Amino acid sequence: MLSWDEFDKEDAGDALAAAKPAAPVIEASLDRLDNEAAGSVEDARAVSANDSDAVARAKKALDALDVQEGLDELEGASARVQVGDKQMINARADLNQLVPFKYDWAWQKYLDGCANHWMPQEVNMNADIALWKSKDGLSEDERRIVKRNLGFFSTADSLVANNLVLAVYRLITNPECRQYILRQAFEEAIHTHAYQYCIESLAMDEGEIFNMYHEIPSVAKKASWGLKYTRSISDPTFTTGTVETDKELLRNLIAYYCVLEGIFFYCGFTQILSMGRRNKMTGVAEQFQYILRDESMHLNFGIDVINQIKIENPHLWDAQMKDEATQMILQGTQLEIEYARDTMPRGVLGMNAAMMEDYLKFIANRRLTQIGLKEEYPGTTNPFPWMSEIMDLKKEKNFFETRVIEYQTGGALSWD
Ligand SMILES: [Fe+2]
Ligand SMILES: [Fe+2]
Repeated sequence: MLSWDEFDKEDAGDALAAAKPAAPVIEASLDRLDNEAAGSVEDARAVSANDSDAVARAKKALDALDVQEGLDELEGASARVQVGDKQMINARADLNQLVPFKYDWAWQKYLDGCANHWMPQEVNMNADIALWKSKDGLSEDERRIVKRNLGFFSTADSLVANNLVLAVYRLITNPECRQYILRQAFEEAIHTHAYQYCIESLAMDEGEIFNMYHEIPSVAKKASWGLKYTRSISDPTFTTGTVETDKELLRNLIAYYCVLEGIFFYCGFTQILSMGRRNKMTGVAEQFQYILRDESMHLNFGIDVINQIKIENPHLWDAQMKDEATQMILQGTQLEIEYARDTMPRGVLGMNAAMMEDYLKFIANRRLTQIGLKEEYPGTTNPFPWMSEIMDLKKEKNFFETRVIEYQTGGALSWD
């Protein structure tokens, strides 16, 4: 990548000397060209006889442009933004000015997300393909787990992405949070890509897998529970600004961040990662491991957003809203327990539905306390401590230290 510090002064001097015209005649003609080139904006826009019809129409359209109309449409006041003007929701400050930062945690998560970039094609799927094809490679129960989870996740990440870009992005009125949301949206696209990549590598019936979210009850219930919370706020005419509409946005954030990404992903992640720990479907498991790292950051961002909205709008977090949030997390936990029973009719991979139920209750307690609610399953312990190890945030930044692939940077790109 080119840096001004490395810019060689001698080379620059040579280049300038070479560029300088040698003869006075050339200098004079360049002066003339400069004078001809200099002119008013009006001159540049004047329609001339040489202009084609299309060029003439473009110039006339610009003459008729009302710049003020565009400026008026920019969100927020036109004044320079002060930190104190910034708010998570219903802010009046200009949303196009990223700095000064108010929510450093959001910007930091954006940087961490970028530092953790990965692509599905980097993962070697050869061992998975061989195992999936071999007749006795996996038991029927293990195959069921792989198929159900690819079925659920292949569409679930699209639901999350759609909710983000079609509903949440517009309503969160803070540029550093929006910056992270854009990063998250891209990560959701990578996740959907990863699932598709697994489905394609294993030559699965794509129609069967992608339609599970309306054909398999335990998958469909989770998807439709999430969709219920996106319906009203994805209406383009929906705006926040009243207690009821602000609460509706808060409900959506709890549904998507705490329940969908915070509970609905956990049975599947645990099952697939457990498979990988047993040296089975290691490529699929590696994809899921990368996704889980991303998801734990999405979840932490969502928790921060919810808590910040509560701090700035304490009137929204009343007894009724607390009860509703608790109910949502408990309903989500119940649906995930049902999913665990459907995907594990018998013990498999050293786990069973009862152990998963304990784990999900443990997770539910975490989600409740993370947004300031009380535990509903006191005394529950984590039967899968290795899952916490995988998600350990301290490891997040060093995750790709061993990677061999370098991403292209601006200096390495070819423009041909
Ligand atoms: Fe995702
Ligand atoms: Fe996510």
